[in-house]
Amino acid sequence: MALLEGKIAVVTGAARGIGQSIALKLAEEGADLALSDVQADWLSETKEKVEALGRRAEVYGVDVSKGDQVQAGVDQIQKDFGRIDIVVNNAGITRDGLLMRMSEEDWDLVMNINLKGTFLMTKAASRYMMKQRSGVFVNVASVIGLMGNPGQANYGASKAGVSNLTKTTAKELAARGIRANAVAPGFIKTKMTDALTDETRDAMLSVIPMKDFGLPEDVSNVVCFLASDMSRYVTGQTLSICGGMVTA
Ligand code: NAI
Repeated sequence: MALLEGKIAVVTGAARGIGQSIALKLAEEGADLALSDVQADWLSETKEKVEALGRRAEVYGVDVSKGDQVQAGVDQIQKDFGRIDIVVNNAGITRDGLLMRMSEEDWDLVMNINLKGTFLMTKAASRYMMKQRSGVFVNVASVIGLMGNPGQANYGASKAGVSNLTKTTAKELAARGIRANAVAPGFIKTKMTDALTDETRDAMLSVIPMKDFGLPEDVSNVVCFLASDMSRYVTGQTLSICGGMVTA
């Protein structure tokens, strides 16, 4: 039997990049998908690909930083699928700049999407999971949240927050049969990292012991493991996927 047969999974930021890869991996392992992104029509490619794997996919336009949209989206998903087994909080953005020049707007935007968005989704979905006495959260953090990085004060702090929020979620909900873990990707080839200059890219490569960048599938394989019963006794952890860059 496939690892996630019969499970209902929600993935935020599923239109492209790591989020799309996660949705496809979970579908490959038998899950049906509630795909969400800022606009529902951005999700048509992911929906087609999930359906080509023989699984159900519905799309939801939800800005994760807006409490009313998150609540309405999660309620609708519960109504459409009848349960929520897995939530992958993947939606995230960067607005890089040195601390001295970082605007308050860029600080707030990154915090609101990356950290508050994860909180809002966790709060809304855990209400349903608590009733069914089972569920799994997998939150997408970052190695930058573990080690800091020049130019990423907002991003690093938001992702450190995601790792810590994951610990509290795990401790509060363990007795209700709910697990929460995070992944901390390093440098993964997506549209987000395509925007980097060659100089930054070379500098990153020089500090990766495996001397290679990761692929979205390197992240989605680990997310799938954490979403499945294979990791039944693992909760509150942040697992780095970074070619050995961070080892703590
Ligand atoms: P991406 O930019 O390709 O995809 C991000 C997705 O999130 C997009 O589909 C976007 O529309 C969606 N999104 C943005 N704001 C949103 C909002 N307010 N509400 C709902 N959805 C929203 O980025 P990528 O690289 O696929 O990143 C996915 C996650 O992985 C992010 O949380 C990112 O911080 C994290 N990550 C990525 C790394 C990399 O090297 N690419 C490294 C470490 C972490």
